[in-house]
Amino acid sequence: MNLKNRNFLTLKDFSPEEITFFLDLAADFKEKKKKNIPVNTLKGKNIALIFEKPSTRTRCAFEVAAHDLGICTTYLAEGSQIGDKESIADTARVLGRMYEGIEYRGFEHSNVEELAKYAGVPVWNGLTNEFHPTQMLADMLTIREHFGILKGLKLVYFGDARYNIGNSLSIVCSKLGLHFVVCAPEKYFPAESLIDECREWCKTSGGTIKCTTNIEDATKDADIIYTDVWVSMGEPDEVWAERIKDLKPYQVNAAVMKKAKKTAIFMHDLPSFHNLETKIGYEIGKKFNVTEMEVTDEVFESPQSLVFEGAENRMHTIKAVIAATLGWK
Ligand code: CP
Ligand code: NVA
Repeated sequence: MNLKNRNFLTLKDFSPEEITFFLDLAADFKEKKKKNIPVNTLKGKNIALIFEKPSTRTRCAFEVAAHDLGICTTYLAEGSQIGDKESIADTARVLGRMYEGIEYRGFEHSNVEELAKYAGVPVWNGLTNEFHPTQMLADMLTIREHFGILKGLKLVYFGDARYNIGNSLSIVCSKLGLHFVVCAPEKYFPAESLIDECREWCKTSGGTIKCTTNIEDATKDADIIYTDVWVSMGEPDEVWAERIKDLKPYQVNAAVMKKAKKTAIFMHDLPSFHNLETKIGYEIGKKFNVTEMEVTDEVFESPQSLVFEGAENRMHTIKAVIAATLGWK
C-alpha cells in the first residue's frame, strides 16, 4: 500500500484497508522495537511539531517515533510566530521548505486543513477540536491486540460525543465494522450530518452507530467502555458546572462496568480525572464539590482498564503514520 505524501487530518479520508495498513505497520514497528531491530532508515529527514495546546502522549509519541525512524524534530509552541504575527498559510509555506512533514495540534480543524493546503509536505493532525485521528489508531490497535478482532465488537462511549474523541470514534468504528454506541444526554450526541456519513460507511463494514440516553440499553453486551474528560482543552471554564451536572449520571463506575460483558475492557484517551489529585483536578473538585469525574478511580485502576496499553500504542501508531506518509522502507 502506498500512502507516501498523504496528509493525515481525519480518518474520513482513509479507507478501511488503509486504516488496517497503519495498524499492521504499527504492530510490526512494536515488535521490532521490543526486539531492538532498528528502523532508522529515514535519516536526514526533519519534521516540525506544532503544539498550540498542551500534550504529553502525542508530543512524546511524535518525538520518540521520529527519533526511532532516524528523523530530527523541531518543537514549536509558545515563542513561534504562528497565528499571532504570521498566518497559517505563510507558516505552512515556510515550514514546507525546511521540513519533510508537519504535525499540528490546535483549535479549529480548518487550521490544520489550511496548513495542509499550503505546506506541500504531509501534515499530521495531532488533535483539533473536531478530530483526533492518531488517538484512534492507538485505540484500535489496543482493542485488536486484546480481542484479536475489531469487526463486530460493541464499543460504548460515555460523555460529550460532539468533540474530537466522540467524532473520531464514530468514524473509525463505522469504517472498521464495530458497533458504536454514544451514551449521553441528547445535547452531547455527535452532529446528525456526521452520523449520516457514518451510516454510509457502516453499509459496507457491517458496523452500526447509535446514540442513546439509556445506560442499561447502551452497556448491554458491551465489549469496550470508553470515556473522555468532560471539558476539553480550549473550552471556557464556565462550562464546567453544566457539564458536571449533565454528565455525572454518565460517569463510568463499577456499576456501569458490571452491566457490560464480563470480558469488557475500559479505555480512556488520557489525561483523566479519575482522582482529583492533580492541580487542576483539585481546584475543580473543590469548586464543584466532586471527588471523581468521568471515571472512578476503582475502574481506572482495575484489571479491566487498558489505559496505559493504549498510551504506549500512541507511539507505535504515530510511527506508522510518519513512516507510511514519508515513504519508509
Ligand atoms: N491522548 C492525548 O492526546 O494525550 P496528550 O494530550 O497528552 O497528547
Ligand atoms: N477531548 C480531549 C481529548 C484529549 C486528548 C481534549 O480535547 O482535551
